[in-house]
Amino acid sequence: MLLKNKIAIVTGGGSGIGEASAIRFAEEGAAVLVADIRGHKAEQTAAEITARGGVAKAVEVNVAEDASAAAMVDACISEFDGLDVIYNNAGTIRLGNAETLSVEDWDLVMGVNVRSVFLGAKYAVRHLRARGGGAIINTASISGLHGDGNGIVYAASKAAVINLTRAMSTDYAAAGIRVNAICPGSIETPPVVRMNQDPKVLQRNLNAHAMGRLGQPEEIANAAVWLASDQSSFVSGEAIVVDGGLRARSPLGDLGNPLPVR
Ligand SMILES: NC(=O)c1ccc[n+]([C@@H]2O[C@H](COP(=O)([O-])OP(=O)(O)OC[C@H]3O[C@@H](n4cnc5c(N)ncnc54)[C@H](O)[C@@H]3O)[C@@H](O)[C@H]2O)c1
Repeated sequence: MLLKNKIAIVTGGGSGIGEASAIRFAEEGAAVLVADIRGHKAEQTAAEITARGGVAKAVEVNVAEDASAAAMVDACISEFDGLDVIYNNAGTIRLGNAETLSVEDWDLVMGVNVRSVFLGAKYAVRHLRARGGGAIINTASISGLHGDGNGIVYAASKAAVINLTRAMSTDYAAAGIRVNAICPGSIETPPVVRMNQDPKVLQRNLNAHAMGRLGQPEEIANAAVWLASDQSSFVSGEAIVVDGGLRARSPLGDLGNPLPVR
């Protein structure tokens, strides 16, 4: 088991990538604090882990809020008496360009996607140090690596997560704390399934991935397990792309078989 005797927090653990990661962490032997703004969803994931013989507790948190993030880390310490891994995964999206996006939506997305990573680290690092090191993992996105039209705040927030990851990794390398990000392609989680109900959106999405399919939450969870484990002991400051070949593919399509003209 890759995470035996480790204690982990997974935010956004009530759904999608976070839910799959909390379950995989527990399968690998970690005790997991499942954290989500929807407390009942966090409870469901924790119950699923417990039913499978793992160790988990749930906590309701708003990762964008200072006091709430601090209380989440405190809850982990009082419940499990330590912390080795924090997976800052909770995130949200609002669409819009510079003219249409509201200032409120800008602040909301930057809070949930970026401020959360800062706050998670702010309160976790002391405890990771106390254990002689640990891992911070952040969910970024391929949207942080290129410009997504009509998704400016999401793209900006995920680019910020990538560089925040790099910056924090240099701060904590000497303490044995590795900080990495994961950049998923399109993963079949509830919000993506909803967007893909439009067949044209689904087809475009499938075409974009060289593998011709979307990813499954477990395929991101497996990357998170690796980054949380000692198997990645010399990896820090990285943004690992897990995207079914999306980023590798030329925007022109395959030679002799171009993507359809819009
Ligand atoms: N699904 C994809 O294709 C994809 C691709 C790239 C990146 N991501 C990123 O992956 C992460 C997980 O997304 P997902 O697709 O699993 O979505 P999801 O909606 O299935 O899960 C996100 C969870 O985060 C929780 N959450 C939202 N705001 C919160 C807050 N303020 N505090 C605490 N919890 C909060 C939600 O309640 C939800 O349970 C996000 O950071 C997202 O941006 C997803």
